[in-house]
Amino acid sequence: MIKVFSSLETLNEFAAEEFIALAKEAIEERGQFTVALSGGSTPKSFYQLLASEKFRDKINWKAVFFFFGDERNVPSESEESNFRMANETLFVPLKTDEDKIYRWETDFETADKVAEEYGERVRFFFRDFPKFDLILLGMGADGHTASLFPFTDALKETDEIAVSNFVEKLDTTRLTVTFPVINKARNVIFLIKGADKAETLKTVLEGDFQPEKFPAQNVKPADGKLFWLVDDEAAALLQL
Ligand code: 6PG
Repeated sequence: MIKVFSSLETLNEFAAEEFIALAKEAIEERGQFTVALSGGSTPKSFYQLLASEKFRDKINWKAVFFFFGDERNVPSESEESNFRMANETLFVPLKTDEDKIYRWETDFETADKVAEEYGERVRFFFRDFPKFDLILLGMGADGHTASLFPFTDALKETDEIAVSNFVEKLDTTRLTVTFPVINKARNVIFLIKGADKAETLKTVLEGDFQPEKFPAQNVKPADGKLFWLVDDEAAALLQL
């Protein structure tokens, strides 16, 4: 499902209502709601809205377990950290218990060890290969999602839950869940805004299938719902 919004505010409002509906459904059916958060800048205002007076009381947060679809290989207090961003915009305002937050433990180990350990913790939590109730994703102007960047090794991973992924163009190692995890989710929501994404979004949604070059094209939940929530600017070139 692709939905276009005239502003980030209306996009966030719709996303919050959807988040609440999915959480209620999961908690009713399975007693918990497991969500993998995305990083970057787009979701910041969405997380703030979820934690605001308007929405915070609509969810039984005690039954919500937070994970991260990817992370930078930096300490948790770094400005680059996706955990830090979510902590400041969501966990602190909601007073989320630490035992409800499964972050990548990036502070002391090598990236490979961090990924191995995160995968083990996630597998232990789910008692099996993880099936998230919701995975939130963004998309870079190069078509990456999570930290699954064009032409990187992680794109080919078919077995592991979590991997480290060297990204040559950034000259850095990132940490990311893999496509098997993303495509096993019950629900996947992309939050995408900005004119700088328009060209790539048109190619991803309407162009040739080139998943090595545009990894976001590989997000196809096998038996889950996929939502593309995009603003006018990002959708400007789409033939909807
Ligand atoms: C990250 C994200 C990444 C992000 C895209 C879009 O760690 O940066 O997980 O995949 O979603 O790069 O980022 P913006 O929302 O900042 O454009």
